[in-house]
Amino acid sequence: MRKLTAAAPGEALRLLQITDCHLFADPDGDMYGGCTRRSLVKVLEAARPHLENCHAVLATGDLSQDESEKSYLDFVKLMTPFNRPVLSIPGNHDRSELMRVHLNQGLFQFCGAARGGNWLLVMLSSQNRGRTAGALSEQERERWQELVGQHPDCHVLVCLHHQPVNIGSAWLDGIGLAGADTFMQQVSATSNLRGVVWGHIHQEFESRSAGVHLLAAPSTCHQFVAGQDDFGMHLGRSGYRTLELHPDGRIETQVHWVST
Ligand SMILES: [Fe+2]
Repeated sequence: MRKLTAAAPGEALRLLQITDCHLFADPDGDMYGGCTRRSLVKVLEAARPHLENCHAVLATGDLSQDESEKSYLDFVKLMTPFNRPVLSIPGNHDRSELMRVHLNQGLFQFCGAARGGNWLLVMLSSQNRGRTAGALSEQERERWQELVGQHPDCHVLVCLHHQPVNIGSAWLDGIGLAGADTFMQQVSATSNLRGVVWGHIHQEFESRSAGVHLLAAPSTCHQFVAGQDDFGMHLGRSGYRTLELHPDGRIETQVHWVST
């Protein structure tokens, strides 16, 4: 359990979500006509005031595109100067065993949990190795349940890579979280759960289910065209999300767009 430097009494826990960086071993690595490293650098530069002021970064998967060790070392190198805890989970493109080595020491934590003030952050792996769609193992489901049981005084935020609800885009809805209904049942059954955060869909998404915030952030590289049943991509528009978790359980959140 990572202890985050608590916000001052009455103050919100401030988080910054980055997701789907899709880095390559090659720093000039290109995906669909854009350099993913260059856009991440631009996003981090634009996010600097928020980064320097946050209590932790949520890195919600697909940090690598080519599953290379170098791509993870590069991610660590880019994030380290901000000197903030980085809580990460794997996406379908990631190699968990490399993340467990390189993103699980010092500032970095992989698939763990963190506590800051009266908030509990649960970082779940929804990676289903070899498949694009996600799944939550029984082990991860139990870990989530146990953590919540151990911190009954906390509001809870859960993070995973894959979307647990349909977002109105047929091709993306086909590669979300398998067993999403079971997941959402557990969300409803967790009375102090206030928000679910994910990546994967390369677009901004915000909804509510029985008072629980359902939130996705744009990718730090390219975005998928929203509301379209077939694959489509926008270049040159990247982003990140900030979240303020208040002591009374409220979540205030905003997506920030960056021209890349
Ligand atoms: Fe993904």
